[in-house]
Amino acid sequence: MNLKGSSILSINQFERGDIENLFRIADQMEPFAQRKKITRVLEGAIMGSMFFEPSTRTRISFGSAFNLLGGDVRETTGLENSSLVKGESLPDTARVLSGFSDIICMRHPEAGSVAEFAAASRVPVVNGGDGNNEHPSQALLDLYTIEKELQGRGRGVDGLRIAMIGDLKYGRTVHSLCKLLRLFNEVSVHLVSPKELAMPDELVEEMRESGIQVVVTDILEESIAHVDIVYSTRIQEERFPSKQEADLYRGRFRLNKAVYTQFCEPNTVIMHPLPRDSRGDAKELDSDLDDNPNLAIFRQTDNGVLVRMALFAAILDVVHLVDKYVEQVPWHNPRLSG
Ligand code: CP
Repeated sequence: MNLKGSSILSINQFERGDIENLFRIADQMEPFAQRKKITRVLEGAIMGSMFFEPSTRTRISFGSAFNLLGGDVRETTGLENSSLVKGESLPDTARVLSGFSDIICMRHPEAGSVAEFAAASRVPVVNGGDGNNEHPSQALLDLYTIEKELQGRGRGVDGLRIAMIGDLKYGRTVHSLCKLLRLFNEVSVHLVSPKELAMPDELVEEMRESGIQVVVTDILEESIAHVDIVYSTRIQEERFPSKQEADLYRGRFRLNKAVYTQFCEPNTVIMHPLPRDSRGDAKELDSDLDDNPNLAIFRQTDNGVLVRMALFAAILDVVHLVDKYVEQVPWHNPRLSG
C-alpha cells in the first residue's frame, strides 16, 4: 500500500511489505529524533491534534514527530473544550478542522468515531485510539520495538513467542498488536486475563485463521515461562461501567522482580504500552523491574516518535525529500554530550 494521502484507521490496512517499508523509514528518522540533524521538510504544514480523551505519550509523541519534520501543531484536548459538547456532530467538526490542517491525529472515547470523522475530513486522519477498538500507531511502535529487541538477540519477528497480560477485552493496544502479528509466521501468543476481560472471540478467531498459535488462559506463571516478550497492560478503568467493577480486577496479574526472576527465561523482554498503573492496588508492572535491562517500556516510547515521523513522511509523501531540507543543530544538545 502506498501511504501517500491515506488515513490510518486500522491495522487491517497494512500488509507485511508496508510494515517493512515503514520501519526502514523510521530507521532513517533516528538522527532527527536524536537532534543530530534538523529537517524542515514539512515547513508550512499544520497537524491538527484532536485528543478528545486523556493522553500523555500519544499526543505529545505525534506532536513532537511533526515538529521534528519542521511542521506546526494546533491542538485541542478534552471533549469539554470542544464544540462537540454543544451538540456539533463529528462530521461537521471534521469538515471545519480539515480546513485548518494538512493532516489530523485524533483520539476519541467511542469505537468507530475516528473512521466516522475521517469519512468527512478533507485531509488524512490518523487514529490515535478509538474507544476499545484500535490504536494502530501504538501497535506499529510496539512491533518496531519487538523487531529491535529481537535483533539484539539474533532473531526476527517470525517465530515470536509473546504473552499479553491484563485487560485484553478493553485494551485497544493489544487488539491492534494481535492484528499486526497475523502478518508474521510461526507466532505463538498466550492471552492471559481474567475470563471476564478476555480477548474478543472474533480477534482470537482471526489470529487462529492466520496461523497464530493462541493459548487463552487465566494462569500467569506458566504463560510467561517460555516466551520472548511479556506484554503487560493496565486495567482500562475508563471503559468499565463503574470504578467498583474495575477494582475487582486491578492487581490480579502482577509482574514484578520476584515473579519475573522465578518464572521468565533470562532476557525475556518486558513491554507495556503505558501508562502503567502505579497505585498500590494495581502495579501490573512493578517499578522494582525498572533497573532490569530487559525492560523496554521507555525504548517503546522513544521508538514511537520514529514510527510516527515515518507515518507523517509517508502520508505527506516527503520521504525522498527529508535529507534535502537538512540544517545543522546550532544549540547545545544534551543527548549528545553524554
Ligand atoms: N500508550 C498510550 O496510548 O499512552 P497515552 O494514553 O498516554 O497516549
